[in-house]
Amino acid sequence: NSSVARYFDTMDYGPAPESDTDARQWLSRHAEGFGHFIGGHFTPASAGPHFDTAEPATGQRLAGIAQGSAQDVDAAVAAARAAQPGWLALGGHGRARHLYALARMVQRHARLLAVVEALDNGKPIRESRDLDVPLVARHFYHHAGWAQLQEREFADQVPLGVIGQIIPWNFPLLMLAWKIAPALALGNTVVLKPAEFTPLSALLFAELAAQAGLPAGVLNVVTGDGATGAALVAHEGVDKIAFTGSTDVGRLIREATAGSGKSLTLELGGKSPFIVFDDADIDAAVEGVVDAIWFNQGQVCCAGSRLLLQEGIAADFIERLKRRMQSLRVGLPLDKAIDIGSLIDPSQLERVRSLVATGVREGAVCYQPPGALPAGGSFFPPTLLTGVHPAATVATEEIFGPVLVTMTFRTPDEAVALANNTRYGLAASVWSETIGLALGIAPLLQAGVVWVNATNLFDAGVGFGGYRESGYGREGGREGCYEYLKPRAWAERKPRSATAFAQAANEADKAPVAVGLPAIDRTAKLFIGGKQVRPDGELSHPVFSATGQRLGEVGTGNRKDIRNAVAAARAATGWSSATPHRRAQALYYLAENLSARAGEFAARLTSLTGAAARAAQAEVDAAVSRLFAYGAWADKYEGTVHVPPLRGVALATVEAIGVVGVVCPDEAPLLSFVSLLAPLLAMGNRTVIVPSEKHPLIATDFYQVLETSDLPAGVVNLVTGPVAGLAQTLAEHDDVDALWVFGAKELSRTAERLSIGNLKRTLVDHGLATDWHDGAAAEGPLFLRHATQVKNIWIPYGE
Ligand code: NAI
Repeated sequence: NSSVARYFDTMDYGPAPESDTDARQWLSRHAEGFGHFIGGHFTPASAGPHFDTAEPATGQRLAGIAQGSAQDVDAAVAAARAAQPGWLALGGHGRARHLYALARMVQRHARLLAVVEALDNGKPIRESRDLDVPLVARHFYHHAGWAQLQEREFADQVPLGVIGQIIPWNFPLLMLAWKIAPALALGNTVVLKPAEFTPLSALLFAELAAQAGLPAGVLNVVTGDGATGAALVAHEGVDKIAFTGSTDVGRLIREATAGSGKSLTLELGGKSPFIVFDDADIDAAVEGVVDAIWFNQGQVCCAGSRLLLQEGIAADFIERLKRRMQSLRVGLPLDKAIDIGSLIDPSQLERVRSLVATGVREGAVCYQPPGALPAGGSFFPPTLLTGVHPAATVATEEIFGPVLVTMTFRTPDEAVALANNTRYGLAASVWSETIGLALGIAPLLQAGVVWVNATNLFDAGVGFGGYRESGYGREGGREGCYEYLKPRAWAERKPRSATAFAQAANEADKAPVAVGLPAIDRTAKLFIGGKQVRPDGELSHPVFSATGQRLGEVGTGNRKDIRNAVAAARAATGWSSATPHRRAQALYYLAENLSARAGEFAARLTSLTGAAARAAQAEVDAAVSRLFAYGAWADKYEGTVHVPPLRGVALATVEAIGVVGVVCPDEAPLLSFVSLLAPLLAMGNRTVIVPSEKHPLIATDFYQVLETSDLPAGVVNLVTGPVAGLAQTLAEHDDVDALWVFGAKELSRTAERLSIGNLKRTLVDHGLATDWHDGAAAEGPLFLRHATQVKNIWIPYGE
């Protein structure tokens, strides 16, 4: 026929549309609109306000969607809460069977799910069919396995309870899977809030899951916009929020949950580097760029959006890339022959347009291949900006569209500096045929995922998540499982005021203050950069014994002292690159030095806390043992080799976080201090520690142990003083990468609320008392996990 003949004449591809019949039929069954999915069924579609979800490619309405209210959220949380005990009681095997059933269900309905996803999101059917949906199935299979193994592999952990999950529109179904599979596998129940642009695949999934026998209330879906999300975040019945989306909203959620006791993981934005060395396989790297920035229209949090080229190959690379761009086809999502679909919404199209215009205004040269875009919809061509200054808006802001910026470098050091010149730290690609170069660069990149000679590879068994302002927490694999669990010993903690030692401390408070004591003989200074230094304000304050005797004075640290301590810690980079063996040696040596002074420390504890001699001795012994324990861990907590379904491996390496602030509690002042310090040292962090406000002398006595140790200057810094103010300064300081706060409940809130500047990771106790003598609560993997960040280095090889 003549139209076929025309394609033969022009050698153009003809359209190869995927059928949308089943998807339209499903939508027509819900022509009256969708309610929420709560407690195993849909709420009436007519109840409450609605909005439309549209086809981005045409702007046409697809369905009416309910705008969830606080009452809807409340009903969903209640359903999830009611279902959780039964779901947990099913046991690992019972849940494994359900997750397996979900995986099979996704495979059975793969076509329908892929079409609904392409319609609602605007992405090419080729991607939803070949990538999103298979990965969704893989996620449920993989996590069915974790459910099966839970009782054995996570015996000392318990689920968190009810999880609130908020997901974005770029991978609606895949993000649903990443969120709900681990949560459900490990015995939690879920309230999921899909993005307002793309609620359909979640509603379809929920409907299918009910048919597949998932018990009512285990998975609830409440649709709506940011206000619905905010209501879920604020709900008191939610134990954890897991969020994927923009860094701005991530910050809002951190602030809103501060002090609430809710756990939080954030998967946020990125501006990931794609680094090509002159010895790379250039054609492969060009193809890599296509996947890095034009996959999903560039609406990918880990998109390789900054192309960094070694100078010698830059011109040739750009030439080849432009040629390749000319063969990319922008078209309707259901056309199986297209490469790039529609952006999600006119508002995003406008945002991308205006960012590109800003780039050009700031001096970039814009290249877009010739060719018409489909009419209607939110189409934007593949775009390359050259001549971009590293500080330009387009080089620093997440564009979240098909826009690539490029810069050049001369040396590997320059490449690393450019790559890390961002607030984000989600992913990076490194291209070089020289194994030593590529694997040498990978550890230097500040990113949670590094792909060697590859890009945008994902697997359910390999952790995914960011460094820095890309958020915290990992999804996938064993690492991801821990995000939905907590140690049983932590779950059983009681508020401080209710515990025995708090009562003892209160008794001590009531002891009469003796007057007319002998003169104070010494004032303990601060310890910064390996030296004892006077506090900036030249102030000190008295320290009292359990019986109210003045024992001495300690320096009253202020903001300036914290800043000096952070600067000293920042500079002590050598510790983070010291070998685990070296760190282990240092910890054993600290233990030895403390042990040599055990009598002295025990006596000091007795005078400070009023502890009986035997109890004081036991605390010192426990502190020595804890230092030994982390000496042991230092070279044994060391990551994993994943074997994802491709030829090659992913190395899950554990890295130090950097500079960590620590605020210590008053109870067991030596043991708690050591228990918080040692895991951080073991994993290569540098620390700024605020010791117990009440008993700081036990920490200042520790200077002698530190001074006789072989820890480099600046690795441990101590600032004594009023903890509330010092904790605040640490929380607000952008050069502090993580903050651990143990003590009064209010301190936890301060730490979480003020941590949003650089999105530092926090480990806080919300005023719950830790039994520092109990190894299950106060030592081991939980602390080591919080002292590290996992970087997954993907190394594909073979054909
Ligand atoms: P967003 O972060 O506003 O939306 C993500 C989810 O959060 C949606 O479900 C939304 O309803 C919900 N949400 C919004 N405000 C909330 C609040 N105050 N409390 C609780 N939940 C809330 O992202 P948006 O506005 O759709 O996109 C804006 C920009 O964010 C994009 O241009 C892109 O730069 C970035 N983004 C990054 C993503 C990533 O995966 N890194 C995903 C989506 C967007």
